[in-house]
Amino acid sequence: IPVDPFDCIIFGGTGDLAERKLLPALYHRQKDGQMTEPTRIIGASRSDLSTNEYRAFAHEALKTHVKDDLDSDEVEKFLGKLDYVSVDVKSERGWDSLGAVLGADTGKKRACYLAVGPSLFGDIATRLRDHGLITPETRIIVEKPIGRDLKSARELNDTLGSVFDEYQTFRIDHYLGKETVQNLMALRFANTLYEPLWNSAHIDHVQITVAEGVGVEGRADYYDKAGALRDMVQNHLLQLLCLVAMEPPSSMDANAVRDEKLKVLRGLEPIDEANVEKLTVRGQYGPGASAGGPVPGYLDEIEGGASNTETFVAVKAEIGNWRWAGVPFYLRTGKRMTTRVSEIVIAFKPVPHSIFGDGAGRLLANNLVIRLQPDEGVKQWIMIKDPGPGGMRLRHVPLDMSFASAFNVRNPDAYERLIMDVIRGNQTLFMRRDEVEAAWRWIDPILSAWEDTGQQCQRYTAGTWGPSASIALIERDGRTWHESV
Ligand code: BG6
Repeated sequence: IPVDPFDCIIFGGTGDLAERKLLPALYHRQKDGQMTEPTRIIGASRSDLSTNEYRAFAHEALKTHVKDDLDSDEVEKFLGKLDYVSVDVKSERGWDSLGAVLGADTGKKRACYLAVGPSLFGDIATRLRDHGLITPETRIIVEKPIGRDLKSARELNDTLGSVFDEYQTFRIDHYLGKETVQNLMALRFANTLYEPLWNSAHIDHVQITVAEGVGVEGRADYYDKAGALRDMVQNHLLQLLCLVAMEPPSSMDANAVRDEKLKVLRGLEPIDEANVEKLTVRGQYGPGASAGGPVPGYLDEIEGGASNTETFVAVKAEIGNWRWAGVPFYLRTGKRMTTRVSEIVIAFKPVPHSIFGDGAGRLLANNLVIRLQPDEGVKQWIMIKDPGPGGMRLRHVPLDMSFASAFNVRNPDAYERLIMDVIRGNQTLFMRRDEVEAAWRWIDPILSAWEDTGQQCQRYTAGTWGPSASIALIERDGRTWHESV
């Protein structure tokens, strides 16, 4: 469905995010006919470029990052929508020109995408206001990191909140735009099958794995100050946990959904100095191999060569409420792991009694595996009888629903969906201020407990599933990490 015409100003228009994600996402939305005239995309950054030079930059970005063949007519149409203004967010330079490009149409939707570091959010917001560039139809989009702890997150939110209303503020967690993440809601709330079983009476535990093959990819500066807990758990993994654990909202209304997620975050059992060593594992990769070749260790990739920043973290989390008490949520995420795979495993309880005897083989649990990437899909593991006359031998097999084979369509990137939601003014897949802060409220004590107890990172070889302590974390409870195949 086409959206209203809009102006999208990308601050950091020549940066990495614009190049890899935003311009390609906007191109696809145009190609699929979702943009209406007169939509414009305005790159803004300090560089002194002409509009034509910016178009050339965008063209290169599309050539590199759009996977399917580029359609030259569509590319030309897309590039024709691009404008560029050289703006210095730290001074007055360029703001009047930006105002001139935007013009006087205050009824048009306006999206200001801050694809820049959070230290510039305040400057941009106040200059937009001071130059009269904020209309009632203006929305601001911000990327993580939203703070590095509760205090700084509050300050950032205060700064944005002093200029923009909450309805205008779109905090992106791009995991919420992933197709399978949205499917989690469809699976739970558009089917009768699972919801009656979705509680501690039937679910033994939940696993959430977000494993990456890549290392720190030239972002060592940012990453070394953040670490995996801040970079991935505070946002992506906790958002996934919320979608698994939340009560059914009464509708898909943004606040109905976010109210339920917030309750989950507030229900997380605290992890602090008393239990941090039992419930968390920090890891850091050493040299190893990835994608068939040798790769350096983390310490070789950062300046100074010494750091206790975790590139891997595993956490055993619990939610103290009636639905989930006693059901552990095992979370793990890391860089330079065996392979890139993100999945959620809902591990159902075993049958209470086997009628089949030893010869039938072990009865394994009905795991529901929701695969976010790659090879998006859903697998429901069940026990069935091995075909043939050989007696009652049982086998664990998946009912396998691969999205690629079921639907022959391109899997859109998360940003495509999310940017269009901004234009539509739909905040369901964006984080509300209180959610971000509630997530930090749970993360902060873990960070300070690590600090206070001096919990060290365990070394793991690049290209493995993380330190052995992560395996011990779950095996201690008589469970194992689901093997991603
Ligand atoms: C980002 C993190 O938010 O998510 C990165 O800052 C990480 O460190 C990335 O690599 C992973 O996203 P995706 O979509 O590739 O799984």
